[in-house]
Amino acid sequence: MEKPMSVTRMRRMKSEGTPIAVVTAYDYPSAGLAEEAGADVILVGDSLGNVVLGYDSTVPVTLDDMIHHTKAVTRAVSKSFVVTDMPFLTYHGSTDQTLRNAGRIMQEGLAKAVKMEGGEDILASAEACVKAGIPVMGHLGFTPQSVHQLGGYFIQGKTADQALKMLEDAKRLEQTGIFAIVLELVPEELARLISEQISIPTIGIGAGAGCDGQVLVFHDLLQYGPSFPKKFVKAYANIGDQIRNGLAQYVNEVKKRQFPGPAHSFPMEQEAVHELYGYKLKG
Ligand code: KIV
Repeated sequence: MEKPMSVTRMRRMKSEGTPIAVVTAYDYPSAGLAEEAGADVILVGDSLGNVVLGYDSTVPVTLDDMIHHTKAVTRAVSKSFVVTDMPFLTYHGSTDQTLRNAGRIMQEGLAKAVKMEGGEDILASAEACVKAGIPVMGHLGFTPQSVHQLGGYFIQGKTADQALKMLEDAKRLEQTGIFAIVLELVPEELARLISEQISIPTIGIGAGAGCDGQVLVFHDLLQYGPSFPKKFVKAYANIGDQIRNGLAQYVNEVKKRQFPGPAHSFPMEQEAVHELYGYKLKG
Protein backbone atom coordinates (compact mmCIF):
# COMPACT_ATOMS: atom_id res chain seq x y z
CA MET A 1 0.00 0.00 0.00
CA GLU A 2 1.76 3.18 -1.13
CA LYS A 3 -0.48 5.80 0.52
CA PRO A 4 -2.41 5.63 3.81
CA MET A 5 -5.87 4.10 3.41
CA SER A 6 -8.84 6.44 3.64
CA VAL A 7 -12.64 6.30 3.51
CA THR A 8 -12.66 7.89 0.05
CA ARG A 9 -10.18 5.33 -1.22
CA MET A 10 -12.30 2.48 0.15
CA ARG A 11 -15.32 3.83 -1.69
CA ARG A 12 -13.22 4.01 -4.89
CA MET A 13 -12.08 0.42 -4.32
CA LYS A 14 -15.72 -0.65 -4.19
CA SER A 15 -16.56 1.11 -7.45
CA GLU A 16 -13.46 -0.40 -9.13
CA GLY A 17 -14.24 -3.87 -7.77
CA THR A 18 -11.02 -4.04 -5.73
CA PRO A 19 -11.54 -6.19 -2.60
CA ILE A 20 -10.84 -4.59 0.79
CA ALA A 21 -8.79 -6.78 3.16
CA VAL A 22 -9.56 -6.26 6.85
CA VAL A 23 -8.09 -8.09 9.83
CA THR A 24 -8.44 -7.54 13.55
CA ALA A 25 -5.44 -6.75 15.74
CA TYR A 26 -5.18 -5.81 19.39
CA ASP A 27 -1.51 -5.12 20.09
CA TYR A 28 1.66 -3.54 18.70
CA PRO A 29 3.40 -6.55 17.12
CA SER A 30 0.31 -8.05 15.49
CA ALA A 31 -0.81 -4.68 14.11
CA GLY A 32 2.66 -4.12 12.64
CA LEU A 33 2.57 -7.54 10.99
CA ALA A 34 -0.94 -6.93 9.65
CA GLU A 35 0.11 -3.66 8.07
CA GLU A 36 3.25 -5.29 6.65
CA ALA A 37 1.01 -7.95 5.08
CA GLY A 38 -0.93 -5.18 3.31
CA ALA A 39 -4.17 -5.12 5.34
CA ASP A 40 -6.20 -2.14 4.13
CA VAL A 41 -8.05 -1.84 7.42
CA ILE A 42 -7.10 -3.00 10.92
CA LEU A 43 -10.08 -3.46 13.18
CA VAL A 44 -9.49 -3.23 16.92
CA GLY A 45 -12.53 -5.41 17.47
CA ASP A 46 -14.18 -5.92 20.81
CA SER A 47 -13.65 -9.59 19.93
CA LEU A 48 -10.54 -8.91 22.02
CA GLY A 49 -12.87 -9.77 24.91
CA ASN A 50 -12.98 -13.36 23.62
CA VAL A 51 -9.55 -13.88 22.09
CA VAL A 52 -7.29 -11.75 24.32
CA LEU A 53 -9.05 -11.12 27.63
CA GLY A 54 -10.64 -14.56 28.08
CA TYR A 55 -14.31 -13.53 28.43
CA ASP A 56 -17.02 -15.70 26.87
CA SER A 57 -18.57 -12.74 24.99
CA THR A 58 -17.80 -9.13 24.06
CA VAL A 59 -20.26 -7.78 26.63
CA PRO A 60 -17.75 -7.24 29.50
CA VAL A 61 -15.32 -5.24 27.32
CA THR A 62 -15.05 -1.60 28.45
CA LEU A 63 -14.26 1.65 26.67
CA ASP A 64 -10.97 1.84 28.57
CA ASP A 65 -10.07 -1.69 27.34
CA MET A 66 -10.73 -0.59 23.75
CA ILE A 67 -8.68 2.60 24.11
CA HIS A 68 -5.79 0.75 25.76
CA HIS A 69 -5.56 -1.74 22.87
CA THR A 70 -6.17 0.89 20.20
CA LYS A 71 -3.18 2.89 21.49
CA ALA A 72 -0.93 -0.15 21.04
CA VAL A 73 -2.25 -0.78 17.52
CA THR A 74 -1.99 2.81 16.28
CA ARG A 75 1.62 3.06 17.52
CA ALA A 76 2.48 0.29 15.04
CA VAL A 77 0.55 1.49 12.02
CA SER A 78 1.06 4.28 9.48
CA LYS A 79 -0.80 3.13 6.34
CA SER A 80 -3.61 0.77 7.32
CA PHE A 81 -6.87 2.46 8.38
CA VAL A 82 -7.54 1.74 12.05
CA VAL A 83 -11.18 1.27 13.11
CA THR A 84 -12.10 0.63 16.75
CA ASP A 85 -15.27 -1.00 18.04
CA MET A 86 -17.40 1.06 20.38
CA PRO A 87 -18.05 -1.51 23.11
CA PHE A 88 -21.33 -2.59 24.71
CA LEU A 89 -23.69 0.25 25.69
CA THR A 90 -21.28 3.08 24.85
CA TYR A 91 -23.43 4.43 21.99
CA HIS A 92 -26.98 3.81 23.25
CA GLY A 93 -27.29 6.68 25.72
CA SER A 94 -27.50 10.40 24.94
CA THR A 95 -25.86 11.88 21.85
CA ASP A 96 -23.48 13.73 24.17
CA GLN A 97 -22.33 10.48 25.78
CA THR A 98 -21.93 8.78 22.41
CA LEU A 99 -19.83 11.66 21.07
CA ARG A 100 -17.72 11.78 24.21
CA ASN A 101 -17.04 8.04 23.99
CA ALA A 102 -16.29 8.08 20.26
CA GLY A 103 -14.15 11.18 20.82
CA ARG A 104 -12.02 9.35 23.41
CA ILE A 105 -11.40 6.51 20.94
CA MET A 106 -10.23 9.03 18.33
CA GLN A 107 -8.25 11.39 20.60
CA GLU A 108 -6.72 8.96 23.09
CA GLY A 109 -6.55 5.82 20.96
CA LEU A 110 -5.81 7.69 17.70
CA ALA A 111 -8.18 5.46 15.72
CA LYS A 112 -9.37 6.83 12.38
CA ALA A 113 -12.96 5.58 12.79
CA VAL A 114 -15.35 3.78 15.11
CA LYS A 115 -17.62 0.79 14.54
CA MET A 116 -21.13 0.36 15.95
CA GLU A 117 -23.40 -2.67 15.89
CA GLY A 118 -27.07 -2.45 14.99
CA GLY A 119 -29.68 -1.13 12.56
CA GLU A 120 -32.40 1.43 13.12
CA ASP A 121 -31.63 1.60 16.86
CA ILE A 122 -28.25 3.20 16.26
CA LEU A 123 -29.12 5.56 13.38
CA ALA A 124 -29.10 8.66 15.60
CA SER A 125 -25.73 7.76 17.15
CA ALA A 126 -24.18 7.03 13.76
CA GLU A 127 -25.50 10.27 12.31
CA ALA A 128 -24.29 12.36 15.26
CA CYS A 129 -20.77 10.94 14.94
CA VAL A 130 -20.66 11.44 11.17
CA LYS A 131 -21.85 15.05 11.61
CA ALA A 132 -19.09 15.57 14.17
CA GLY A 133 -16.49 14.35 11.67
CA ILE A 134 -16.06 10.84 13.06
CA PRO A 135 -16.13 8.16 10.35
CA VAL A 136 -18.43 5.29 11.32
CA MET A 137 -18.47 1.67 10.21
CA GLY A 138 -21.79 -0.16 10.72
CA HIS A 139 -22.30 -3.81 11.64
CA LEU A 140 -25.39 -5.84 10.69
CA GLY A 141 -26.36 -9.50 10.76
CA PHE A 142 -25.07 -11.30 13.81
CA THR A 143 -24.13 -8.54 16.26
CA PRO A 144 -22.00 -10.11 19.02
CA GLN A 145 -22.88 -7.50 21.67
CA SER A 146 -26.51 -8.75 21.43
CA VAL A 147 -25.58 -12.43 21.74
CA HIS A 148 -27.74 -12.91 24.84
CA GLN A 149 -30.73 -11.30 23.13
CA LEU A 150 -30.19 -13.29 19.93
CA GLY A 151 -29.92 -16.51 21.92
CA GLY A 152 -26.55 -17.63 20.55
CA TYR A 153 -24.22 -17.46 17.56
CA PHE A 154 -26.72 -17.91 14.71
CA ILE A 155 -26.96 -16.91 11.04
CA GLN A 156 -29.20 -13.82 10.71
CA GLY A 157 -31.54 -12.86 7.84
CA LYS A 158 -32.53 -16.36 6.78
CA THR A 159 -36.19 -15.59 6.02
CA ALA A 160 -37.31 -13.15 3.32
CA ASP A 161 -38.83 -10.81 5.95
CA GLN A 162 -35.64 -10.74 8.04
CA ALA A 163 -33.58 -10.27 4.88
CA LEU A 164 -35.67 -7.31 3.72
CA LYS A 165 -35.39 -5.73 7.16
CA MET A 166 -31.60 -6.05 7.03
CA LEU A 167 -31.51 -4.54 3.53
CA GLU A 168 -33.67 -1.66 4.79
CA ASP A 169 -31.35 -1.15 7.79
CA ALA A 170 -28.32 -1.12 5.49
CA LYS A 171 -29.90 1.56 3.30
CA ARG A 172 -30.87 3.69 6.29
CA LEU A 173 -27.39 3.36 7.75
CA GLU A 174 -25.92 4.40 4.42
CA GLN A 175 -28.10 7.53 4.50
CA THR A 176 -26.54 8.61 7.81
CA GLY A 177 -23.21 8.97 6.01
CA ILE A 178 -21.34 5.99 7.43
CA PHE A 179 -18.49 4.74 5.23
CA ALA A 180 -18.85 0.92 5.35
CA ILE A 181 -20.88 -1.91 6.89
CA VAL A 182 -19.71 -5.23 8.31
CA LEU A 183 -22.08 -8.10 7.49
CA GLU A 184 -21.58 -10.96 9.94
CA LEU A 185 -23.11 -14.45 9.66
CA VAL A 186 -25.47 -13.55 6.82
CA PRO A 187 -26.54 -15.86 3.95
CA GLU A 188 -24.39 -15.30 0.88
CA GLU A 189 -27.33 -14.25 -1.35
CA LEU A 190 -28.46 -11.57 1.10
CA ALA A 191 -24.95 -10.19 1.60
CA ARG A 192 -24.52 -9.98 -2.19
CA LEU A 193 -27.86 -8.20 -2.58
CA ILE A 194 -27.03 -5.65 0.14
CA SER A 195 -23.60 -5.09 -1.43
CA GLU A 196 -25.23 -4.40 -4.80
CA GLN A 197 -27.89 -2.10 -3.40
CA ILE A 198 -25.74 0.29 -1.37
CA SER A 199 -22.89 2.47 -2.56
CA ILE A 200 -20.66 2.08 0.51
CA PRO A 201 -18.42 -1.00 0.90
CA THR A 202 -19.67 -4.09 2.71
CA ILE A 203 -17.13 -6.12 4.67
CA GLY A 204 -18.17 -9.74 5.16
CA ILE A 205 -17.42 -12.27 7.87
CA GLY A 206 -19.29 -15.50 7.36
CA ALA A 207 -21.23 -13.71 4.61
CA GLY A 208 -19.81 -15.28 1.46
CA ALA A 209 -17.92 -13.94 -1.53
CA GLY A 210 -20.36 -11.24 -2.67
CA CYS A 211 -19.14 -8.57 -0.22
CA ASP A 212 -16.77 -5.75 -1.17
CA GLY A 213 -14.23 -6.87 1.41
CA GLN A 214 -13.60 -9.55 4.02
CA VAL A 215 -12.65 -9.48 7.69
CA LEU A 216 -11.38 -12.26 9.93
CA VAL A 217 -10.27 -12.29 13.53
CA PHE A 218 -6.45 -12.47 13.82
CA HIS A 219 -6.50 -15.34 16.31
CA ASP A 220 -8.95 -17.37 14.19
CA LEU A 221 -7.12 -17.15 10.87
CA LEU A 222 -3.77 -17.90 12.49
CA GLN A 223 -5.16 -20.54 14.89
CA TYR A 224 -3.70 -18.72 17.89
CA GLY A 225 -5.16 -19.66 21.27
CA PRO A 226 -8.31 -21.55 22.11
CA SER A 227 -10.80 -21.27 19.30
CA PHE A 228 -13.72 -23.52 18.44
CA PRO A 229 -13.98 -24.48 14.75
CA LYS A 230 -15.97 -21.99 12.68
CA LYS A 231 -17.18 -22.87 9.19
CA PHE A 232 -16.45 -19.39 7.83
CA VAL A 233 -12.84 -19.29 9.04
CA LYS A 234 -9.96 -20.52 6.92
CA ALA A 235 -6.79 -21.31 8.88
CA TYR A 236 -3.80 -19.71 7.13
CA ALA A 237 -1.27 -20.78 9.77
CA ASN A 238 -1.14 -22.68 13.03
CA ILE A 239 0.63 -20.28 15.34
CA GLY A 240 -0.86 -21.95 18.41
CA ASP A 241 1.03 -25.19 17.70
CA GLN A 242 4.27 -23.32 17.02
CA ILE A 243 3.96 -21.41 20.31
CA ARG A 244 3.04 -24.58 22.22
CA ASN A 245 6.05 -26.45 20.83
CA GLY A 246 8.43 -23.55 21.38
CA LEU A 247 7.34 -23.08 24.99
CA ALA A 248 7.50 -26.81 25.75
CA GLN A 249 11.03 -26.98 24.36
CA TYR A 250 12.10 -23.94 26.42
CA VAL A 251 10.72 -25.37 29.67
CA ASN A 252 12.34 -28.73 28.93
CA GLU A 253 15.76 -27.16 28.26
CA VAL A 254 15.61 -25.08 31.46
CA LYS A 255 14.74 -28.19 33.48
CA LYS A 256 17.68 -30.08 31.91
CA ARG A 257 20.06 -27.11 32.35
CA GLN A 258 20.58 -27.00 28.58
CA PHE A 259 19.54 -23.35 28.47
CA PRO A 260 21.27 -20.92 28.70
CA GLY A 261 24.43 -22.16 27.04
CA PRO A 262 27.63 -20.16 26.37
CA ALA A 263 26.03 -18.56 23.28
CA HIS A 264 23.38 -16.90 25.46
CA SER A 265 25.62 -15.83 28.37
CA PHE A 266 27.91 -12.83 28.98
CA PRO A 267 31.47 -13.65 30.11
CA MET A 268 33.39 -11.21 32.32
CA GLU A 269 36.84 -9.83 31.42
CA GLN A 270 39.50 -12.21 32.83
CA GLU A 271 41.05 -9.44 34.95
CA ALA A 272 37.71 -8.70 36.60
CA VAL A 273 37.16 -12.40 37.27
CA HIS A 274 40.49 -12.65 39.08
CA GLU A 275 39.75 -9.50 41.07
CA LEU A 276 36.33 -10.84 41.94
CA TYR A 277 37.78 -14.09 43.23
CA GLY A 278 40.55 -12.33 45.13
CA TYR A 279 43.58 -12.98 42.92
CA LYS A 280 44.45 -9.45 41.89
CA LEU A 281 46.79 -9.72 38.90
CA LYS A 282 50.14 -7.96 39.29
CA GLY A 283 51.12 -5.72 36.31
O1 KIV B 1 -15.11 -7.52 17.16
C1 KIV B 1 -14.77 -7.92 16.04
O2 KIV B 1 -13.67 -8.46 15.84
C2 KIV B 1 -15.71 -7.75 14.95
C3 KIV B 1 -15.44 -8.52 13.70
C4 KIV B 1 -15.77 -9.93 13.93
C5 KIV B 1 -16.16 -7.94 12.55
O3 KIV B 1 -16.66 -7.05 15.09
